[in-house]
Amino acid sequence: MTGRLKLHDCEPAAADILGDVVRGLTSPEKYLPAKLFYDERGSQLFDRICETVEYYPMRAETAIMKDNVESMAQIIGPGVTLIEFGSGSSIKTRFLLDHLEKLAAYVPIDISREHLLQSAEKIARDYSDLEVLPVCADYEQPFTLPVPRRSSTRCVVYFPGSTIGNFLPRGAIDFMRRTAHISTAHDTEGALLIGVDLKKDTRILEAAYNDSAGVTAAFNLNILLRVNRDAGADFDVDLYRHVAFYNEEEGRIEMHLESTTDHTVSVGDHNIEMVAGERIWTEASYKYSEEEFAAMAQEAGYSVSSVWLDDLRLFSVQLLTTRDSGH
Ligand code: TRP
Repeated sequence: MTGRLKLHDCEPAAADILGDVVRGLTSPEKYLPAKLFYDERGSQLFDRICETVEYYPMRAETAIMKDNVESMAQIIGPGVTLIEFGSGSSIKTRFLLDHLEKLAAYVPIDISREHLLQSAEKIARDYSDLEVLPVCADYEQPFTLPVPRRSSTRCVVYFPGSTIGNFLPRGAIDFMRRTAHISTAHDTEGALLIGVDLKKDTRILEAAYNDSAGVTAAFNLNILLRVNRDAGADFDVDLYRHVAFYNEEEGRIEMHLESTTDHTVSVGDHNIEMVAGERIWTEASYKYSEEEFAAMAQEAGYSVSSVWLDDLRLFSVQLLTTRDSGH
């Protein structure tokens, strides 16, 4: 099933997963690391979230790409290596692959191994001249990048889906600084094309993370099944409910799993006491105004060179470039 693509494999080990899980569940405010969402079933459920009517980010970002990809490609220029973080199904990437001129290589990076391979193989089949170099890695940890056969004029990092909002603001700035290092490796101007979700009416935000078909709830709860399988825990999924709301003060959607009863969960050598109503934090999704995000980009060593919005101004795709070192 692996086809002809060679995977650059930096997949995190199971032992690391157990460590992360125990750290999260023994902390005073319990949490689970969001990257654990993306096992095979989680990646599929996420694709289904993107198809729900309530989840506007996918629709808005796709519309932005569709309507503006020509000018994006023109600004980016020919002969680049495109590096995508959290590539998932690479759906929006196709707009870029269709329009970027003389692309040198495409490097999709994702933590979900099988899902990554399948998407990368589809891309390689559909773009037969393109060198596709998939990397399985947790991109919050250091990892190496494969070297494309063809040399490129510059590297452009693509980070769609507002995944930047899933970092705490500090972490987001640090992450962007790392992408600046990657894309300036050849002494060229670095570029980051990034999807950033905007602040908006709380009702629209909360609906997007509480779809009526319950797909987001299933996605959130799936993390417990993942933890049972890969960290040997014994969560009873039926004892938890999905809770998502907008925390206005912090400017973020918070996703939690709320225990409905008092009970004990075992993980490794640990017994974790849960009380009724207690929550395990699974994800944050920060929403930024254009001004707030520009200030963060600046701190990471970028300046905002273009911003594209959808008609309803729900979402933005922004091109950041590293500032001239002389300034
Ligand atoms: N990057 C997505 C977002 O913040 C991730 C996401 C969407 C998500 N829906 C979710 C994460 C539900 C956890 C639970 O919008």
